[in-house]
Amino acid sequence: MIIAIDGPAASGKGTLARRLAEHFELRHLDTGLTYRAVAAALLAKGLPLGDEDVALEIARNLDLAHMDKSILSSHEIGEAASRIAVLGGLREELVALQKSFANTPPGAVLDGRDIGTVVCPDADVKLFVTASVEARARRRTDEMLSKGQEAEFSSVLDDLKRRDARDSERTVAPMRQAEDAHLLDTTEMDIESAFKTAVDIVSRARLS
Ligand code: C5P
Repeated sequence: MIIAIDGPAASGKGTLARRLAEHFELRHLDTGLTYRAVAAALLAKGLPLGDEDVALEIARNLDLAHMDKSILSSHEIGEAASRIAVLGGLREELVALQKSFANTPPGAVLDGRDIGTVVCPDADVKLFVTASVEARARRRTDEMLSKGQEAEFSSVLDDLKRRDARDSERTVAPMRQAEDAHLLDTTEMDIESAFKTAVDIVSRARLS
């Protein structure tokens, strides 16, 4: 059983993926963390983000079990991750790792930008989770403020728009909804109703 979840930043896809994995007793991989881990290692070494040889070396040695979300979730690392995500050779290396995670029994939930289109094109269920950019910016701002971080709605909104453009306009594996993906627009939903809707979609797909 493989569940593929794609969507833009702050759409709620990560929370949905984690909760679906718990619910259906599957393993979960947040593939954004793989790009973030490589970006963080490049930043730590003070190397340019375009250095694909070093990025590949870091990716080959990546241990999926030891990616620390609390460190990798910073805004700076997210920006750097979306810059290195345009490197085709690096993507191939990370996609191979992600595929092997997905194909290990009993299956998994993977979330990212290209799961339904590139990483797991034969997934049993595909969801494309989205929400208006304003709703996503509001959620991201509230989340940052609740963690005691500084956040201003207008700059979060600009960041998200920039990230959306970079992720959907790049030539290699751009973010897009797979033709056979179910669209889940969470603009008017709280996380509970989004989760219930997602469980319904997956349960129906399992029966068919
Ligand atoms: O989802 P998250 O914000 O952690 O992803 C960070 C960046 O990694 C994204 O903006 C995107 O550029 C890249 N990414 C990707 N493909 C994925 C997951 C993330 O290109 N499957």
